Amino acid sequence: MLKDQTIQIIKSTVPVLEVHGTAITTRFYERLFTYHPELLHIFNHANQKQGRQQTALANAVYAAALHIDKLENILPAVKQIAHKHRSLGIKAEHYPIVGQNLLAAIKEVLGDAATDEIIQAWTEAYGVIADAFIQVEADMYQQAEEQPGGWADYRAFRVERKVQESEVITSFYLVPKDGRAVASFEPGQYVSLKVNIPGDEYTHIRQYSLSDAPGKSCYRISVKREDALEGRPAGKVSVYLHNHIEEGGELLLSAPAGDFTLDQTDSRPAVLLSGGVGLTPMISMLNTIVDKQPQREVIFIHAARNGSVHAMREHVEQTAAKHPQLKVYWCYEQPTDNDAASGTAHHTGFIDQQWLKGVLPTVDAGFYYCGPTPFMKAVHRALLGCGVQEADIHYEFFGPKQSLE
Ligand code: HEM
Repeated sequence: MLKDQTIQIIKSTVPVLEVHGTAITTRFYERLFTYHPELLHIFNHANQKQGRQQTALANAVYAAALHIDKLENILPAVKQIAHKHRSLGIKAEHYPIVGQNLLAAIKEVLGDAATDEIIQAWTEAYGVIADAFIQVEADMYQQAEEQPGGWADYRAFRVERKVQESEVITSFYLVPKDGRAVASFEPGQYVSLKVNIPGDEYTHIRQYSLSDAPGKSCYRISVKREDALEGRPAGKVSVYLHNHIEEGGELLLSAPAGDFTLDQTDSRPAVLLSGGVGLTPMISMLNTIVDKQPQREVIFIHAARNGSVHAMREHVEQTAAKHPQLKVYWCYEQPTDNDAASGTAHHTGFIDQQWLKGVLPTVDAGFYYCGPTPFMKAVHRALLGCGVQEADIHYEFFGPKQSLE
């Protein structure tokens, strides 16, 4: 338990954090990787370069400071991060390293304003926050290991099948090398992949949503090849998987994780919206619903640039042909002549409130969505504009969570 005075000091430094939050975490990461370069095997270098991780960590520390006397208020946020940490393999012994470097960064950035009293209060507060994460993560490691087919760390899988789904998306069907069963998972969850790219100094870890329903003898992930674009370098891992991992190849996976999951106790319609490769958790949810809740109405809406980068269209259309309770809508931002010639029915342009109003049978439904950030923002705004309740909205960012404002 923290003393009242400590809590007061922590809360009174929140405005300072607001101003310096990102500067502190930026300095923190510089220190962390200087003194502990081994952690470069765990962190995503691309997210670091884009500053996304700095913002996510700054926001998390800020939120924790605001709720330091009632951390249970932010338990859902702690759990979401803990899922990611567990999936990456973060351990209790990593926390003091982060704590020492975070405090040193606070001292450096605040200078004289960081009195001994403030640093002491933050040392204690970090301990409380870290203990909360360590506890939640310990429970998650135990659950991951104890469930049938489960495991705690990384496990070797063999690529049984590699299937091209579109010009940019390829699926990998993965079976455990030990020949034993795979753990079940909740539709919407992801796995972490750890890859050693020949000639690269560091290992790389990336998360990919499982793109088929649970209950099979293998896992499927569907990976978009991130080509270089407008100054952004190509995605190291996705390009490596596409170009160098063939059938028979080996990949290391941690057990399924994540709190973006389909509520299968809800019998109201499910509205599944995706943009680009954000389709992957939606296909897992769709396949699960038609299997486990065959009476449940589903509205499946997918936005792609055009038909050539539209993955799994045939699968969804074939599913709709067998399940009249499934309604499907395609939105193409820039349809091509091929799209016109193929006669595929689609909405041209982005998803907006007016168009959504026209296709949604009701707003009393469960809404799930995933895609690039501009897509997420547009969908979020449109859903609220249509009168959807916040409690019915579920979404996942690929990468560190961001604001939808
Ligand atoms: C991810 C917060 C401790 C390693 C994250 C994210 C947040 C966060 C908010 C982004 C989650 C998302 O993807 O939405 C915190 C807080 C910590 C803490 C508040 C301390 C109380 C640690 C420790 C390590 C660690 C001890 C290990 C050295 C990572 C890594 C990621 C991550 C590798 C994935 C980010 C990436 O590579 O892009 N953390 N974290 N974190 N955290 Fe932590």
